[in-house]
Amino acid sequence: MRGLGVFAVFSLMGGGRSESCWRETICTGPLEPAFPGEWDVYNYAPDSRSVKPKMVLSGDDLSSTPYNGSVVLSADTPQVVLDFGLEVGGITSLNYAGDGAAVVGLAWTEAKNWIGSDSDYSNGGSTPDGHLTLNITESGSGSYEVPLEKLRGGFRYLTLYHSGPTSTTVNVSDILLEIGFQPTWPNLRAYRGYFRSSDETLNKIWYAGAYTLQTNTVPVSTGRAIPMVKDSWMNNGILGNGSTIIVDGAKRDRAVWPGDMGVAVPSAFYSVGELESVANALQVMYNYQNKDGSLPEAGPPLLQQDSDTYHMWTLIGTYNYVLYQNDTDFLAHNWDRYQKAIEYVYGKVDRASGLLVVTGTRDWARWGQGFNNSEANIILHRTLTTGSYLAALIGDDTLSGTYTDRAVALLTAINTHLWDSSYGAFRDNATETTLYPQDANSLAVLFNVTSAEQDESISSRLVENWNDIGAVSPELPGNISPFISSFEIQSHFLAGNATRALDLIRRSWGWYLNHPNGTGSTVIEGYLEDGSFAYRSDRGYPHISYTSHAHGWSAGPTSALTNYVVGLSVTGPAGQTWSFAPQFGDLQSAEGGFTTTLGKFRASWAVGDTGVSYSFNISTPEGTEGSALLPCVSGNRKAKITIDGNVGVYATKTVNKLTGHAVKIQGGAHSVLVQEMVGA
Ligand SMILES: *[C@@H]1O[C@H](CO)[C@@H](O)[C@H](O)[C@H]1NC(C)=O
Ligand SMILES: *[C@@H]1O[C@H](CO)[C@@H](O)[C@H](O)[C@H]1NC(C)=O
Ligand SMILES: *[C@@H]1O[C@H](CO)[C@@H](O)[C@H](O)[C@H]1NC(C)=O
Ligand SMILES: *[C@@H]1O[C@H](CO)[C@@H](O)[C@H](O)[C@H]1NC(C)=O
Ligand SMILES: *[C@@H]1O[C@H](CO)[C@@H](O)[C@H](O)[C@H]1NC(C)=O
Ligand SMILES: *[C@@H]1O[C@H](CO)[C@@H](O)[C@H](O)[C@H]1NC(C)=O
Ligand SMILES: *[C@@H]1O[C@H](CO)[C@@H](O)[C@H](O)[C@H]1NC(C)=O
Ligand SMILES: *[C@@H]1O[C@H](CO)[C@@H](O)[C@H](O)[C@H]1NC(C)=O
Ligand SMILES: *[C@@H]1O[C@H](CO)[C@@H](O)[C@H](O)[C@H]1NC(C)=O
Ligand SMILES: *[C@@H]1O[C@H](CO)[C@@H](O)[C@H](O)[C@H]1NC(C)=O
Ligand SMILES: *[C@@H]1O[C@H](CO)[C@@H](O)[C@H](O)[C@H]1NC(C)=O
Repeated sequence: MRGLGVFAVFSLMGGGRSESCWRETICTGPLEPAFPGEWDVYNYAPDSRSVKPKMVLSGDDLSSTPYNGSVVLSADTPQVVLDFGLEVGGITSLNYAGDGAAVVGLAWTEAKNWIGSDSDYSNGGSTPDGHLTLNITESGSGSYEVPLEKLRGGFRYLTLYHSGPTSTTVNVSDILLEIGFQPTWPNLRAYRGYFRSSDETLNKIWYAGAYTLQTNTVPVSTGRAIPMVKDSWMNNGILGNGSTIIVDGAKRDRAVWPGDMGVAVPSAFYSVGELESVANALQVMYNYQNKDGSLPEAGPPLLQQDSDTYHMWTLIGTYNYVLYQNDTDFLAHNWDRYQKAIEYVYGKVDRASGLLVVTGTRDWARWGQGFNNSEANIILHRTLTTGSYLAALIGDDTLSGTYTDRAVALLTAINTHLWDSSYGAFRDNATETTLYPQDANSLAVLFNVTSAEQDESISSRLVENWNDIGAVSPELPGNISPFISSFEIQSHFLAGNATRALDLIRRSWGWYLNHPNGTGSTVIEGYLEDGSFAYRSDRGYPHISYTSHAHGWSAGPTSALTNYVVGLSVTGPAGQTWSFAPQFGDLQSAEGGFTTTLGKFRASWAVGDTGVSYSFNISTPEGTEGSALLPCVSGNRKAKITIDGNVGVYATKTVNKLTGHAVKIQGGAHSVLVQEMVGA
């Protein structure tokens, strides 16, 4: 029960809302938020697993009125649209009363612009999902519930319409959606983390990322069916063991995708704080390891193969999970498989150049992959450095040293063959190509294969890809990827430019969250540079309505705002060690927190009126230790720092390529005032 055992006790006692977990699922989730407060108004999660529509949209102009408990289909009103007001997913039920025979069509969609008599696309084939029909054969009343395998994983709008003769009047009442996601939680709002800043938009974006991750955390028997069905949809695929698992998207693919987890898992940990779903997702990848050591690109039943990058993301995901949860049993259980997976991919390193030569060429949606691709090489570097950490954690120092040596050699090869010093960014591969990709350059900074000078140069170069609504990816031309942009924003923070990072968060995620046709509550998989919801429609996607509007791989701002704006990150097992390095950007204040098995971590800061002082409170579990790098905002090199009433004078230092006042902070609660010494 991985760290949530304490909460299980409540449900065994039969207390509170334990009955509101999904169907037969045993409740193991918490009952109350870890940090209750005013910021709960930003939390999108419904307060009950049973939700009603909020509004009824009718007429050609879809004018809206509040849902009053029933809607009537008639000759005058052959169609009504129920708006749940935000992204939801699960099983719809209703009651009806008709004055004769009728056939009622039901169709679901995430985006407002795909409202119609058929659902948006999700089945994965090139055929439409279509709609379900409720066949009312005679006058009278009855009730209807969507069959379990027709669970609609993600939608905001439900359209009900006369698909037969319109002369009958049908009164549809008690429309109810039983939420399927986050199946083990009795209270969907009981987040283990929180965030609030002086910027309303950022607050909403943080919570939209968190809520998206909840919608992507699903019962293990509700994966998309493989082989893909035609003319309709089926969500009855078995995704793994356990009762809850994290997938890529609410509507689709409803499969475990380890690359997506590279963004989704840190953001889930620092917000909702439920990691059992992560352990189950990683475990299924190891369970399906191939004989040669390779791991699938996606979990069952999809089990797509041949992706070197996604193979490595499972290994990086293992590090993230073990770091956050200190689940050394999980690591030990999979350690042989982990090592075999490392040897499999390291075996592809070319002895002459020292670079990985990619042969498993599937990847996120980038157009090209293969040969000595830079994104893949940088991911391998991260795989080896995190592998070294894990080997040390398990007590194999020799192996840890081997992985480190390999990482060091690779770092040299990457900078020798892939860095274009005249341009100031990484090329897409070790040829004369002039494509400088968003993914490799963002990841190079994030995964630390660079110097401070390189970071600064990359950060400025990346801005050249931006338009008004996001970063257009050179390696997926015409498209904006909030997945890759989730790495990019972190690279701007790490290059020390919080203003730039916040600009991209507002311009891309803020744009979507305020879009009148979006869900207004989640983060989208991707979109075209002109703002149409038609991600990859030019390449490979079956239909423009296929885009997922609740895709965890786009939730990067959630962890980034906690790690770089509030400034708190876990650096050792379960937060045994942590760092505090806030960046203010254009904000006046921010606060946030998260929870590990060791307890609660929390910080809040506020900039003083004069701009040369700021204060913060920090509270972490006793016995833990933090490294703080306190920013220098005025350009003055010295500051008077008062920690719990004790005054000291500190000069700036450079730590991990960023400059500030380096201070050790022990666990417990502390109150700090930083006053920069003007002219010092
Ligand atoms: C509820 O609203 C519908 C329109 O959406 C309307 O036809 C119906 O009369 C209303 N019922 C009540 C009880 O107000
Ligand atoms: C929203 O969708 C409608 C219907 O397709 C379209 O007319 C409108 O332009 C869209 N709004 C935006 C801002 O894209
Ligand atoms: C509805 O049910 C009737 C009677 O069972 C049947 O004849 C008809 O084909 C059904 N229509 C649809 C659309 O399923
Ligand atoms: C529809 O049914 C509901 C529930 O039975 C009832 O309250 C409502 O008055 C009915 N509306 C009409 C127009 O008959
Ligand atoms: C579930 O666990 C069993 C026992 O470890 C394993 O054999 C099986 O493959 C697992 N199923 C999945 C879908 O991972
Ligand atoms: C190198 O990258 C460019 C740009 O993505 C691509 O067109 C080319 O095919 C790649 N070449 C090799 C050998 O990978
Ligand atoms: C990178 O791969 C391409 C295609 O195989 C090759 O032409 C080039 O020499 C390689 N570069 C290095 C440094 O190995
Ligand atoms: C980044 O890599 C350098 C070695 O290249 C290392 O000294 C430093 O500790 C690393 N920073 C982080 C945050 O891991
Ligand atoms: C930070 O980014 C902003 C916006 O792109 C830019 O104007 C500014 O020069 C950058 N600051 C630094 C220190 O690089
Ligand atoms: C992490 O797990 C190991 C092995 O179970 C244990 O010895 C260690 O105390 C744990 N560390 C923390 C910080 O919980
Ligand atoms: C720190 O805590 C004190 C006491 O609760 C409070 O007055 C102050 O506003 C807090 N400061 C910040 C920056 O949150």
